[in-house]
Amino acid sequence: MSAPHSITARACANIAFIKYWGNRPGDLNLPLNPSISMTLNSCVTTTTVEPIPAGPQEPQAVVGAQHAAPSRARTAQSAADDEVLIGGRVPGEKALARTVNFLDAMRRWAGNSQRLRVISENSFPTGCGIASSASGFAALAAAAAAALGKHPDAAELSRLARLGSGSAARSIMGGFVELLPGDTHQACHAVQLADENSWPELRDVVAILSSEEKTTSSADGHKLAATSELFEGRLRAIPARAQQVRDAIRRRDLSMLGSASEEDALSMHAVMMTSRPPLFYWTERTIRAINAVHALRRRGIEAFFTIDAGPNVHILCLDSGLDAVTSMVRDELAAEFIIAQPGPGIRVEGTR
Ligand code: DP6
Repeated sequence: MSAPHSITARACANIAFIKYWGNRPGDLNLPLNPSISMTLNSCVTTTTVEPIPAGPQEPQAVVGAQHAAPSRARTAQSAADDEVLIGGRVPGEKALARTVNFLDAMRRWAGNSQRLRVISENSFPTGCGIASSASGFAALAAAAAAALGKHPDAAELSRLARLGSGSAARSIMGGFVELLPGDTHQACHAVQLADENSWPELRDVVAILSSEEKTTSSADGHKLAATSELFEGRLRAIPARAQQVRDAIRRRDLSMLGSASEEDALSMHAVMMTSRPPLFYWTERTIRAINAVHALRRRGIEAFFTIDAGPNVHILCLDSGLDAVTSMVRDELAAEFIIAQPGPGIRVEGTR
């Protein structure tokens, strides 16, 4: 018998200019609105997946579904478990259950019950305001599909990654990417708007203002979106704003892109703050960063903010404005930062 395939996939995180917030009913992560993002070159998850050979396992081959949610049908048969290591550790119970449930969905799709070993590393610190679940589930979808003997196209990989995390659907493609808000699994996948070479001067400076883990996950937050009286208004405003972002990407117009991105982030956070119960992801440092970005603009430097479900602030600028932005983050906000630019889509390699 030949040795099992070991497949390694690399995926980049992404930052959304038009944010996905709020799902259709059900557990397929079908968003209620289109979202548009940039894939981030310097924020990479590398995930290796290999089949676990059938038969008795070494005792140290540890960890897997025995730690997963008790509701899971499959329980502590170590030979029947997946093995998961993220950043060199067995993830906590919730993250492990989410990973194993996702692998179960991949096995159902592939029609293959093979148990899998998963080893995943991020090039960026967790809790730095960059969603590791986007790059994480994109890389896992691609590596697991190949380890299960399947070779889906990008649209199908995007659908699969979406089952793990909605924003992961966008990390399959490089450059500028839109997740279409289809109302069925088949209709809901990402498409590339422009590749990573189309606007190489664009930068995202991520100011790391807090590395504490957020108290409400995006998954729980999506469920609250419709409880905000502002949510309907947000959904009505998005088509025009999304068109502004598509046009800005096509024309490489930062002020057009940045003004729509700021509006959209504020609209999403207004929905969050007026949900029942309300969700506040900002801290005082977040507000200082917003004011500092506006002050840069008054000095003639094109810089715009966007903020995900957390306190950290992404500052969009051009290469020519990078020094001014990073000096501001270091000197005025006393914060560390990551610099990213448009990055590539998923990359997969296999060995035997
Ligand atoms: C605010 O459901 O993709 O980042 O799986 O927890 O990473 P996680 O989140 P997900 O929601 C993302 C919400 C957002 C906006 C966005 O990226 O579009």
